[in-house]
Amino acid sequence: MGKFSIAIDGPAGAGKSTVAKELAKRLAYIYVDTGAMYRAMALHFIRNGITEGDSGAMEAACDTADVTITHKDGEQVVLLNGENVNGLIRTEQVSHMSSVSSTNKKVRLKMVELQRNLAAKENVVMDGRDIGSYVLPNADVKIFLTADAKVRAKRRYDEQSAKGIECSLEQIEENIRERDYRDSHREFAPLVQAEDAVYFDNSGLTIDETIEEIYRLCEKARG
Ligand code: DC
Repeated sequence: MGKFSIAIDGPAGAGKSTVAKELAKRLAYIYVDTGAMYRAMALHFIRNGITEGDSGAMEAACDTADVTITHKDGEQVVLLNGENVNGLIRTEQVSHMSSVSSTNKKVRLKMVELQRNLAAKENVVMDGRDIGSYVLPNADVKIFLTADAKVRAKRRYDEQSAKGIECSLEQIEENIRERDYRDSHREFAPLVQAEDAVYFDNSGLTIDETIEEIYRLCEKARG
């Protein structure tokens, strides 16, 4: 029997990973955070001293990066050349580099192959930017999850502040808008809503309300 796949795409900070993780838990599916894969690649480039404008060096370095995904206690673990890099890929430096290096076609094709292989073997909830539009065009459920940039910035600001990290709301909003622009204007497999995706703006909803509504959509699709 074919595997069931749920694709959740949208811009940074819309709550995709929180929603996807909870859905995967409820449905006993595998959660695949594709952003983390691009982040691991970005870490590899940073470690190799590659600057963001050097796409030739990036493409050459693709061949020395082995990114794989495993799961431990329900959490996705990203391995870069065998090393668990989960704790190293959430920095601002990696966020920025991943946003730049994920525009590279060779980087993307490498990650897409890995993502498709995962979805062929397991029932998945996969989140990213191009899952419904490019990686899994036949996904059983496609959600395009978004929220106003100001709302997304405020959520990120509250998250950071709660962790005691000092930050500026204006700066976060500017970074979000910059990433939105880059993600949706790149040439190859940009962030777009797939034609058959359900558009879901959660600006006025809590994360719990968002989860409940999307869960309902998935249950309906599963029959
Ligand atoms: O979702 P995230 O913020 O962890 O993703 C990090 C970067 O990777 C983001 O700038 C966009 C890129 N990305 C992508 O291009 N395609 C995906 N499927 C997932 C992430």
